[in-house]
Amino acid sequence: MSLVVDEHRQYLSDQARVSAFGQAIGEVVKPGDVVLDLGSGTGILGLLACRAGAKRVYAIEEGGMIDLAREICRANGFQGRMVFVKGLSTRVNLPERADAVLADQIGNFGFEAGLLEYFSDARERFLKPGGVMIPSHVDLSVAPVECPEIFDQVEFWNHSPAGFDFHTARSLAANTGYPVKFRPEHLLGHPVSLTTIDLSKATPACLTLEGSLVATRTGTLHGIGGWFTARLSNHVILSNSPLSTQRINRRNVFFPIDRPVALAKGDCVRVMMHILPADVLVTWKVEVWGDAETRRARFSHSTLQGMLICKEDLQRTQPHFIPKLSPWGEARRSILELCDGQRALSEIEQEVYHRHPGLFRSPGQAAAFVAEVITRYCV
Ligand SMILES: C[S@@+](CC[C@H](N)C(=O)[O-])C[C@H]1O[C@@H](n2cnc3c(N)ncnc32)[C@H](O)[C@@H]1O
Repeated sequence: MSLVVDEHRQYLSDQARVSAFGQAIGEVVKPGDVVLDLGSGTGILGLLACRAGAKRVYAIEEGGMIDLAREICRANGFQGRMVFVKGLSTRVNLPERADAVLADQIGNFGFEAGLLEYFSDARERFLKPGGVMIPSHVDLSVAPVECPEIFDQVEFWNHSPAGFDFHTARSLAANTGYPVKFRPEHLLGHPVSLTTIDLSKATPACLTLEGSLVATRTGTLHGIGGWFTARLSNHVILSNSPLSTQRINRRNVFFPIDRPVALAKGDCVRVMMHILPADVLVTWKVEVWGDAETRRARFSHSTLQGMLICKEDLQRTQPHFIPKLSPWGEARRSILELCDGQRALSEIEQEVYHRHPGLFRSPGQAAAFVAEVITRYCV
């Protein structure tokens, strides 16, 4: 079975998530509504909307799940009401606007997974004036955390694995956000909300956030934990907070600091975050204050510094760089040129194999490359 299907099994088996969406959709979607299920996966949100009385559901899905979702829709007798649209939501069009947009494009810390990009595009192009988004708001929260077992993943690089010196990798490891499922005992203080994103207005512009956290117990600060709480309707929220009684099965994010700091009850941890949603870049600055006058530690990290960008790739992003096509670029250009609305696929495959003998060891390899390009760029 495809791992993608198993990923969707996990979404469906998350009772807290499915019942929160079910309740919110039941509250918000009215009989006769037109609904958009953005990133439909199995189509579960669209099916819930049909059950709530939606007249028509447009289910947009970029991945191969779409065919399975079509069959699932048929098996449930909603084939006349759900219209499946294959593609990325920002690149497709719909014949009419929707009364409600539904999506679970909420990342571990809320803003990732395209929440801001896809919702702002859908709001502008697909939502009726006065229409509703589910979720309507997403709150990003942070707390100071003591979590030696995850901090060990950063320290690992300093411990000479296999007897070799790998310490240069440590700074990359300290500039990485880790997916982690925190437990309440990991928290050194109460969570603080850094922002509430209102999806009726939000854009993918950068977010600059700040918050002050107070240690409620003595312990060792290893970093900052982040998670979200989404408002799905007036009465329903969805959260992966370790403190939520209805917590969904989605991990949180651990933002490490360079070295652990001992915290006493009452110490203050100031957190400043800068987030570029479209690039999924997060900068986190953390200061530990004993009292208003005594700053005990200060750290600055960024996922940009944790990225593996090789020098060759970086050079190719400089404005003075003069690009020219590689042999694979040439082969791709051949395919695009050959797609002139006249030639059959088999003809294109043969021609590409013939034109680029150095790239493909068999006609089958050429056909696979052609399929890759055609499924992406051709209709
Ligand atoms: C987190 S899963 C949620 C699936 C389903 N809505 C649910 O609630 O179980 C996200 C799905 O959206 C698809 N997806 C993500 N961004 C998309 C976009 N902008 N346009 C279309 N599909 C998208 C992914 O391929 C994936 O199947």
